[in-house]
Order: sequence, then C-alpha cells, then structure tokens
Amino acid sequence: MTYTIKQFRSKRGCLSYILFDEQSKEAIIIDPSEEVPTDEYLKYINDNNLKVKYIFETHTHADHISSSKELKEKTKAKIVMHKNSPSKRKDIEVDDDYFIELGNTKIKIMHTPGHTNESISLYVNGAVFTGDALLIEGTGRTDFQLGDSIDLHNTLWGKLMILPDDTKVYPAHDYKNREYSTIKHEKENNPRLQLSKEEFIKTMDSHHPEKPELFDQAIEKNSQ
Ligand SMILES: [Fe+2]
Repeated sequence: MTYTIKQFRSKRGCLSYILFDEQSKEAIIIDPSEEVPTDEYLKYINDNNLKVKYIFETHTHADHISSSKELKEKTKAKIVMHKNSPSKRKDIEVDDDYFIELGNTKIKIMHTPGHTNESISLYVNGAVFTGDALLIEGTGRTDFQLGDSIDLHNTLWGKLMILPDDTKVYPAHDYKNREYSTIKHEKENNPRLQLSKEEFIKTMDSHHPEKPELFDQAIEKNSQ
C-alpha cells in the first residue's frame, strides 16, 4: 500500500487534501474549499492522472464555503458525509467503521463527534485526517452545530489517541503554517489533552469564541 498526500492551504488557514493510491491512481479529495482555486485541485488531478472516486466533507463547515459540489461536477466523484449531516449534497452516507478502498490503499472512516455530531475522521495506515475534531495543539470548539464536550473527549481519547503514536495528524485548519502533527506530539503537547476529563469538559463548555466570519453564509451554502 503506497499512497501520496497532497495538502492545499488557503490564505486563511483552511486545509484540504488529495490522497491517492500510487498504483491504481484512485483518489479522494478531503474538505475542498472555495478559497483554493478549483483549478489548483484539477491541475493536480490531471498532472498525476488521478481518478477521483470520492469527495469527503469531514463535517458541514461553518467558516468557509466548500467547493465539493463544483469538484463533483468536474470529476464525477461522489460526495461522502456522515449520516447525521443535514447537508443535501451528500451522495453516500457513512457511519463509524466504514471502509473504502483505493486500489490497495484501505481507508477507515471513523465517526468522531464532539465538534459537531456529524464529524468524521479518515484513517489510513500512517495518517489520520481529523477535520476539526483534533487540530494541531488544539481542538475544534463544541458550542454550535450540535457539538458536545463529552463526545469530543470520548472522540479524542477513545478513537484518536489510541492510534499508533507515529500516525501523522492532518487537520482541517492550521493558522501557523504547520503541515501536520503526530499523535505522540499531540498527546504530549496539546494543552487540551493535558486536562482531566472534568477539566476538559469545563474548559470546552465555557469556550465561546466569536462566531466565524462567514458563519451564516457558510452553513447555508454548505448544507445545499
Ligand atoms: Fe468546523
């Protein structure tokens, strides 16, 4: 199983990805954003002769407009989201412990709620795409989109921190130009992972940062 991960970073720090199996050239796109020109994704797909099978949204994004619909039209790939997602754009609904295969590359889908009730993470041997559940030295907030601090704690410790220590962590956001982290680094350095369960829940429940700039517009557009 040999695969390649290509990261796309928008100016505001939204991260999206293309992962492809090197033998079959079958690919997935994860969390594409309008803030990255669609041509950039398409050029990479063409340059590498990729066949995009699925476009994953790790959840309905509240802070940027997704370009999954446009990329679906161009690539004929299917949009995949968790079954709890209210979004009308999903072609395939998934839940915990679903698997997809790109040639010999096997990808496990995990339901990782807490930031939202529909959040999913994608695990491939050596790497995990965590959406906004686990960020580099941070986590997503839990105060809207049916977020839940207890669920997020269970997700972090019951699903993500049990992955092998050297697993690379690819989140949906990073504002400090970092490409990825590892499970080990997060276990040791993520301030929210140093808290007891009680402290974590108290901290997250009282964490109400300002709503993202594009909140209303993003939720509305990304749900269609
Ligand atoms: Fe989010």
